[in-house]
Amino acid sequence: MNATASAIEVRDLRKRYGAQNVLNGISLSVAQGTIYALLGPNGAGKTTLIHILSTLIVPDGGSARIDGHDIVADRQAVRQSISLTGQFAAVDEVLTGRENILMMARLSGLTPAGARQRAAELLRRFELEDAAAKRVKTYSGGMRRRLDLAVSLVVNRPVLFLDEPTTGLDTVSRRALWDMILQLKQQGRTIFLTTQYLEEADQLADEIAVLSGGSIVAAGTPESLKARVGGEVIELRDRHDELIRAVPTSGRVQDVRQTLNELAAAYPPDTRIVIRKPSMDDVFLAFTAQAAHPSPDKEAFFA
Ligand SMILES: Nc1ncnc2c1ncn2[C@@H]1O[C@H](COP(=O)(O)OP(=O)(O)OP(=O)(O)O)[C@@H](O)[C@H]1O
Ligand SMILES: [Mg+2]
Repeated sequence: MNATASAIEVRDLRKRYGAQNVLNGISLSVAQGTIYALLGPNGAGKTTLIHILSTLIVPDGGSARIDGHDIVADRQAVRQSISLTGQFAAVDEVLTGRENILMMARLSGLTPAGARQRAAELLRRFELEDAAAKRVKTYSGGMRRRLDLAVSLVVNRPVLFLDEPTTGLDTVSRRALWDMILQLKQQGRTIFLTTQYLEEADQLADEIAVLSGGSIVAAGTPESLKARVGGEVIELRDRHDELIRAVPTSGRVQDVRQTLNELAAAYPPDTRIVIRKPSMDDVFLAFTAQAAHPSPDKEAFFA
């Protein structure tokens, strides 16, 4: 039952550990069938927020609804609406891939025949058929992560939480997992993921929130966030093509000319420039630096 149009609705959520305000009033809303990426550095509070939304820990203040159910008052209903793939592998190393899925399927109430069928489907979907009979301790990082996701999908749930799904994976494994996450979206699931990878948020997410210092310091579509950083970024490169600085500009001729005049006066004559569109890196640096220094200057962001 969906009491709201949003799959996830968060209002002024707070969590404190001792003197530390880990979450300092988080509000956000995730539309059904979309991917929402929470982007933040180590210790930003990403896992804390996922644990609160998946009912593993209780907030100190504020409220949140998942698929219309309150995370505190309707905890049981929330648990029936979600699946969680945690930051650290939750599969049993000694069991095989197939045995891990079968165990979860039986715990979830499937019959032995139903469990075997579900395991076969998931092993196929996550390209683990060849490794199905091998113990997980022999798996690569990418295989473990795919198995983790497969295990969390044993029961079909509308809302999926993925805490840093691709951390530590190589580019090929990361892209394979991105495809699998996009397929889950195509099936109509709502996906809330955390990441430290700007490219991941940029590639996957319909909407991104940047979490820094316990607050969401910027949120929007990847395009709108990049647009907020500026029209064009001027990169300064030395004669070895090493990046010296990246300076955001509005992209207007007057602004670019003035910036170039200042840079020409400050750097050696063999310094070269490249003009490019803002990247998610620029967004991240700009907004996390702004949060750390409330009255920032451009130098500090991009030095
Ligand atoms: N149970 C706890 N007791 C005390 N402090 C905690 C607890 N859990 C988290 N913290 C603190 O809250 C802050 C946020 O932690 P959290 O794990 O949510 O960050 P994160 O964004 O997931 O980081 P990472 O990218 O490293 O996974 C950290 O400073 C952490 O030390
Ligand atoms: Mg974490």
